[in-house]
Amino acid sequence: MSGNPFQLQGRVATVTGGGRGIGRGIVLALAQAGADIAIADIDLDSARKTAGEVEALGQRVCVVSVDVTDAISCRAGAETILEDLGGIHVLVNNAGVVQARSDAEVDAKDFERCYGVNLVGIWNMSSAVLPHFRQQGEGRLVNIASIAGRRGGMLTPYSASKAAAISLTQSQATALGPENINANAVCPGLVWTPMWEQLEGMFGDSEDPQVVDRRATFDSFLASACPLRREQTPEDVGHAVVFLASEAARNITGQALNVDGGIQMN
Ligand SMILES: NC(=O)c1ccc[n+]([C@@H]2O[C@H](COP(=O)([O-])OP(=O)(O)OC[C@H]3O[C@@H](n4cnc5c(N)ncnc54)[C@H](O)[C@@H]3O)[C@@H](O)[C@H]2O)c1
Repeated sequence: MSGNPFQLQGRVATVTGGGRGIGRGIVLALAQAGADIAIADIDLDSARKTAGEVEALGQRVCVVSVDVTDAISCRAGAETILEDLGGIHVLVNNAGVVQARSDAEVDAKDFERCYGVNLVGIWNMSSAVLPHFRQQGEGRLVNIASIAGRRGGMLTPYSASKAAAISLTQSQATALGPENINANAVCPGLVWTPMWEQLEGMFGDSEDPQVVDRRATFDSFLASACPLRREQTPEDVGHAVVFLASEAARNITGQALNVDGGIQMN
């Protein structure tokens, strides 16, 4: 092989939930590695803003309105991307939600919400793109799971949906490997994004600022559980995705890569 195996020139990458947070970090890392980008998000305002940053990097970009819980919306989004950018080589299933209530209060709706986006969303968008991957004889799936999927114990519906996402990734890798399609997961650790604002109620209704201050809870978990003692960033996750999307990772499939400063070691 000649050239740098980590570069993505001539590739088109689609990122669900790519408008903000970790998705934005993935989009910018992929664009910096030379990929053209499609951002598939329900929030078009943030998606367009991030698209402007991709253009500034000199890459082609397309924004599509997609709700990953809706298979029809995913198929329509994939068709628009194929028309606009002429192909898809990498699909990053990043869109995700966390439960809005504490484990003491969750009910079946929280499971439906977490499974709908974090698991069925991966299935829907992958299914929309797979016919194209098959036709071109190659493709890369990268599913954003979480270290919460490695071990239960808190955020019950969210953690269960992320464990299921890792399992789905292994099934995709097994089924699609013979068609030259790799499927891997990335498990971010603690990344300070707008998702943390959705955790209202997770820490209970205590008036104790130590309990309700989400940033303080984030920092104290970091200090006690993270060997590297530093928070992870959207860019950190983006760099792992670039690797898994690149030729350098052509023989890696069915894996779940923790990007978590060592919080989980398996
Ligand atoms: N922030 C963390 O600490 C952390 C840790 C581990 C894993 N993760 C995972 O990383 C991914 C990104 O998380 P984040 O922290 O950036 O969250 P975020 O809430 O900041 O961003 C989520 C993005 O997904 C989009 N989205 C949500 N529902 C969607 C739907 N139905 N269809 C299409 N797009 C949808 C949102 O519009 C947004 O752009 C998620 O899968 C999350 O579970 C986050």
